[in-house]
Amino acid sequence: MGIVHVLNNSSLNNGSARPAQRPAPELIEEQKVMDAMGQLQSHPDIDRLLGLMWRKDPDTYRHCHRVADWSQWVGGTLGLNAQERVELYLCGLLHDIGKLMTPVEVLRKPGALTNAEFAIMKMHSGDSGKVVRRLEDLSYLEAPIRGHHERIDGRGYPDGLRADQIHVFSRIILIADTFDAMTSDRVYRKGLSSEQAYEELLRFSGTQFDPDAARAFIKAHQQLQIDRPHSHKVVVESAHALRKAA
Ligand SMILES: [Fe+2]
Repeated sequence: MGIVHVLNNSSLNNGSARPAQRPAPELIEEQKVMDAMGQLQSHPDIDRLLGLMWRKDPDTYRHCHRVADWSQWVGGTLGLNAQERVELYLCGLLHDIGKLMTPVEVLRKPGALTNAEFAIMKMHSGDSGKVVRRLEDLSYLEAPIRGHHERIDGRGYPDGLRADQIHVFSRIILIADTFDAMTSDRVYRKGLSSEQAYEELLRFSGTQFDPDAARAFIKAHQQLQIDRPHSHKVVVESAHALRKAA
């Protein structure tokens, strides 16, 4: 089941709504994105991979959902269409799936990583790409997933790509990923406030981050705080967490 098929199965795409009852085009677009994102959760490969991640490290599982959700909102701010936003959401869900191969003592280490441990941790983005490449329906998303730790100044990994060589999805995911890391509490330090993290994103725009994507992230994140202040609870306690509790 590919992404296009998912979108074509949208409940708003069945032609049954009469013109007088049709919602505004932007609401139809929004509903299509929401429907398709919901359907993706039951794709057998995605469900299996995220289930494994939930069992290995619930924090990474939750992180992936936050990054996916924020990224697709940023995509909307940047003018991506519904299909692109759903694909970006999917890349966000799976961007760290290569951490299934990361030793748990490195992945869940409470303190700062040593250089050797960091070298192991850095393998995850390439591994995420390899996992996705093996899945027939999703293999075309390998490049944006593999590239989510590339920096626009060329000092990222695994390929040292720069600027426009980096897929736009990767550039957005890096920002959402970094923002989540900066604002999350760790055993050895407290997370930054959203405002402090916005400043960091702007400070490293043009070196680490794509400036347009960084500004779009801040705008989308600020709006989300107003529109959906409790969204994290809904998003992160999704299918796998609920299934485990049952
Ligand atoms: Fe990552």
